[in-house]
Amino acid sequence: MLFTAVLFIVLKLINSRIIGTFVMPHGGIALDPTHFNTTNATAKNEAEILHKSCQEVGHVIDSLDPDLVFLSTPHGISDLNNFVLYLNPAGYGKADTDNCQCPPCCYSIKIKLDNSTSIDLIQAMKTYTNISGLSAFGPPGQSEELFPLRWGEVIPLHFLPNINRVKVVILSQPSRRYTQDVSMIPELLELGSNLYKYLEDLPQRVVTIISADLAHTHLKSGPYGYSDAAEPFDQAIGQWVMTLDQSVLTVEAAKYVDKALSCGYTGLVMLHGMMHAGELSSWKQTLYANYHPSYYGMMVASFLRTSHIHDSL
Ligand SMILES: *[C@@H]1O[C@H](CO)[C@@H](O)[C@H](O)[C@H]1NC(C)=O
Ligand SMILES: *[C@@H]1O[C@H](CO)[C@@H](O)[C@H](O)[C@H]1NC(C)=O
Ligand SMILES: *[C@@H]1O[C@H](CO)[C@@H](O)[C@H](O)[C@H]1NC(C)=O
Ligand SMILES: *[C@@H]1O[C@H](CO)[C@@H](O)[C@H](O)[C@H]1NC(C)=O
Repeated sequence: MLFTAVLFIVLKLINSRIIGTFVMPHGGIALDPTHFNTTNATAKNEAEILHKSCQEVGHVIDSLDPDLVFLSTPHGISDLNNFVLYLNPAGYGKADTDNCQCPPCCYSIKIKLDNSTSIDLIQAMKTYTNISGLSAFGPPGQSEELFPLRWGEVIPLHFLPNINRVKVVILSQPSRRYTQDVSMIPELLELGSNLYKYLEDLPQRVVTIISADLAHTHLKSGPYGYSDAAEPFDQAIGQWVMTLDQSVLTVEAAKYVDKALSCGYTGLVMLHGMMHAGELSSWKQTLYANYHPSYYGMMVASFLRTSHIHDSL
């Protein structure tokens, strides 16, 4: 009886850690490909694969039964310098899909934010890096208003079938990422490592999602024009997923990122720092999709924690 109780506690402790990390896109085509206005059958098919991959990853996350989802967004409400966490008890927002506005294409989510963990995380990390919190329309952790969310948060979280069962911590990347993403690499790796230490020690079962799109310069007709850096950038990111080789991300992809224009880059470097702190060999990766059906690249990937601790019991 006592043994069972102890074993239960031990297993509970082992389970209480980062059980998986995910990269999900936030493009409207992935959210709802049915309105993607193209005559290109290949592109249409790639959009479908991206969408189905997001659904599949949503179910994988659900089956991991997390208590806490830690989401990084590059498109949230941003501070110039600091990484910020949203401190309202709840958040709400809408997202549109490309080529179809609401109505009829309406997508919204309301989520519970884990304001206590967020505040605690800020206190725990203050000495290491540029991190702070934001409360909207009221005191931290107490505002009755819903923190405003948009596509960077809404689209990935929309794919989680039981989003109301979990609490979410949202980290918004600072807007200096637009001009300083490469010079931020050491800081991002360090931040990821510190986040790992914090999240890994929580009593909750934690899943991390990096909301990220890849290169935005795939098409001459797109809003950012064409760059020959777009394709090699997206390929390098795919190769990083398959190898977890840091230099592919921070040297190879870094060469292209400023012309590729990828909003997701800083989140991915932070994720590498996180996974590295947790031993790279303890993550099993799956690359579901890496395509650019329109001018911007999107990727769906998972890194599930292998149960090497269970094995050694
Ligand atoms: C779809 O694309 C065609 C051709 O570019 C254009 O004429 C049409 O207005 C577009 N429809 C929507 C709903 O954007
Ligand atoms: C905080 O941000 C500044 C840039 O605004 C950077 O120079 C500094 O290295 C960062 N601090 C840490 C601990 O990374
Ligand atoms: C966080 O939010 C809850 C409501 O969900 C509230 O009861 C609690 O006091 C808040 N925590 C902090 C640290 O403000
Ligand atoms: C159709 O889309 C695919 C995938 O995005 C692209 O590689 C190809 O060049 C496109 N074809 C045309 C004719 O635009």
